[in-house]
Amino acid sequence: MQTYLDHHATTPCDPAVVAAMAPWWSDQFANPASRQYRPGLAAAAAVERARGRVAELLGAGGAQVVFTSGATEANNLAIKGVAEAALAAGGKRRRLVSLATEHRAVLDPLRYLERHGFPLTLLPVQADGLPDQAQLEAALGPDVLLLSAMAANNEIGVLAPLAPIAQLCRHRGVLFHCDAAQAAGHIPLAMEQLGIDLLSLSGHKCYGPKGVGALLIRPGVKVAPQQHGGGQEQGLRAGTLAVPLIVGLEAALEGAMADRELRSERLGRLRDQLWQALEALGQVRLNGALAPRLPHNLNVCVGGVDGTALHRRLRQHLAVSSGSACSQGNPSHVLAALGRSRQEASASIRFGLGRGTSAAEIELAIEAVAEAVAQERN
Ligand SMILES: Cc1ncc(COP(=O)(O)O)c(C=O)c1O
Repeated sequence: MQTYLDHHATTPCDPAVVAAMAPWWSDQFANPASRQYRPGLAAAAAVERARGRVAELLGAGGAQVVFTSGATEANNLAIKGVAEAALAAGGKRRRLVSLATEHRAVLDPLRYLERHGFPLTLLPVQADGLPDQAQLEAALGPDVLLLSAMAANNEIGVLAPLAPIAQLCRHRGVLFHCDAAQAAGHIPLAMEQLGIDLLSLSGHKCYGPKGVGALLIRPGVKVAPQQHGGGQEQGLRAGTLAVPLIVGLEAALEGAMADRELRSERLGRLRDQLWQALEALGQVRLNGALAPRLPHNLNVCVGGVDGTALHRRLRQHLAVSSGSACSQGNPSHVLAALGRSRQEASASIRFGLGRGTSAAEIELAIEAVAEAVAQERN
């Protein structure tokens, strides 16, 4: 039996979330756009309740919430939608700025736009996984339309200083998009207070269902729809709404916020225990800074071993990865941005602890890594 320590790839859907979704599949199945009869109105009311609650839970009571199929779609809508709206308005700003360590769900839409007349600046990061402040300031010139920076990195768990970034963007007249797929439900996140203009999230990263997410948009920010059709979601995302999944997203976020503090404390202690034990093996280095980092994340580079062989051994006991689930087979661009070689990146281990992770499982993980490393170094 493998111990699952890959909660950045996905989390199990909480049974309470499954229960909250249950009535909306077969009993209350009406289309929320069918407002001529009661079941349709009930479905619409459930969606609106979820919309309000999701905004509230993310400290964005005034924000427009657009439900999507996940964070990938939310990122696409934010980035391409802002670019297209700016183009239509005839604005002068065209340049897009982001970081080399972003998820491909941000990098790929940015590169797409680069091929369509929007110059792109991708900033490097320092050894701690964060951009250099002076470089960031210098990059936000008068031609910049949007900065996209993630709240928490999906590989190394490093947390971005969102408030200062948002403040800088505001001073420079730059829109700030934040991919919060790994952060929502895991760290305190108050969109309005932080000054974020657009925020993406995903259900399956916070104990909710796969296939649902949302983009939160500050009022006044112009976004052009990327999916056209029946005019749902205030014209920003056409398609019949997935009522059970939307209710599930609300329930997941509610549950994740409710136990966030205790969960973070407990998992942070287990993570630190794991790190201390792995560090004691010798030639084990952290990828990125230990703090500020998601409490349930650890990413280490193991020296003196072949990465492929190490992971082959680990697979017998642990579900962990050497990088993002979305770039399997390719060396991690995040670890490369930290200056790790291909060989070092493949000998890296990402641990993502979760709500169900026990102390016994961490003991088991420590034993599994220690044994695999010893065998490989022999
Ligand atoms: C930071 C980040 N952004 C976006 C995504 C994509 O999310 P989704 O699976 O909801 O499309 C992920 C998932 O791996 C992620 O970690």
